[in-house]
Amino acid sequence: MAASPKSLLRAHQPEYAAPVSGAADSTVSLHTGTEMPSLGFGTWQLRHHTAETVFQALEAGYRLIDTSGDYHTQRGIGNAIRGFGGRREDIFLVTKIEETDDAYEATRRNLSELKLDYADLVLIHRPPEGGVGEVLWQELRRAKLDGLARDIGVSNYSIEQIEELVYRTGEMPVVNQVEWTPFGHSPRMLDFCHDNGIVLMAWSPLTRAQRLNDSRLAAMAARYGRTSAQLLIRWNLQQGVVPLPKANHVQHLRDNLHVFDFEIAQPDMARLRAMNEHYSALGSLEYL
Ligand SMILES: NC(=O)c1ccc[n+]([C@@H]2O[C@H](COP(=O)([O-])OP(=O)(O)OC[C@H]3O[C@@H](n4cnc5c(N)ncnc54)[C@H](OP(=O)(O)O)[C@@H]3O)[C@@H](O)[C@H]2O)c1
Repeated sequence: MAASPKSLLRAHQPEYAAPVSGAADSTVSLHTGTEMPSLGFGTWQLRHHTAETVFQALEAGYRLIDTSGDYHTQRGIGNAIRGFGGRREDIFLVTKIEETDDAYEATRRNLSELKLDYADLVLIHRPPEGGVGEVLWQELRRAKLDGLARDIGVSNYSIEQIEELVYRTGEMPVVNQVEWTPFGHSPRMLDFCHDNGIVLMAWSPLTRAQRLNDSRLAAMAARYGRTSAQLLIRWNLQQGVVPLPKANHVQHLRDNLHVFDFEIAQPDMARLRAMNEHYSALGSLEYL
């Protein structure tokens, strides 16, 4: 399919075309030397037209897009990236393969849906039943050697599973993508990733909107003149964790970028950390 013309993808309201300052320039370093954007856009269950929404996210300033073979958003994302134009290397595309896949072939399939030559990061979506995914990992390493993936990582892995994977294969993932909010997180995992040069990525960083009305969170956000969503995103950024907020609504996706012009004071960071109740918006924190 030809690249989608910008005019078809652009929001009808002109005020939505201007970028929000901060997001496009902020990065974290992977242990391979790659610079990765410090904030990304999630695309699981995007209800609205994927290409339009992702295009608006790119126009607003998101430079990292998170998807997966099983999200059914890859075609729209590819169209949005081509419609946006500019240099491919300015956009960081994350996709995932399933634990039941042939990882090499699934990576090729993902790229063919995206109509891209390479992904910046390919993750094992979750560890396979009863194992750590050694074969999947070897196949992703091959995909990396062949230039299909610039970097490779894991998702929903526990510390012990990462240790076992590295023991068996000798290669440390650059990223572990896990559910991560003040209501559900793991100081032990944060320390482990920090010590081993792994970047944590936070999925469902907004609790799938289920805890945005928490009175403690809302009161603290109000003190900073921010929304609960902005406070949750900023909490991640200040720990070096890369959040992937999803938003169907363009106003939401733009609001979520206004997080580079304020700082949460350390006592409040501690108060947010202390809200940990191992809460999961999807059932359980699989990495615990
Ligand atoms: N690796 C994995 O296993 C895994 C699992 C789950 C998710 N993920 C990734 O993580 C991404 C994010 O997680 P998620 O999609 O589950 O949920 P989320 O980002 O925690 O929450 C999305 C919800 O928050 C709402 N929202 C967004 N911004 C808001 C704002 N400023 N004010 C009020 N509400 C706001 C959205 O509403 P609207 O949509 O109406 O704007 C939507 O209902 C996914 O899209 C996916 O890329 C990965």
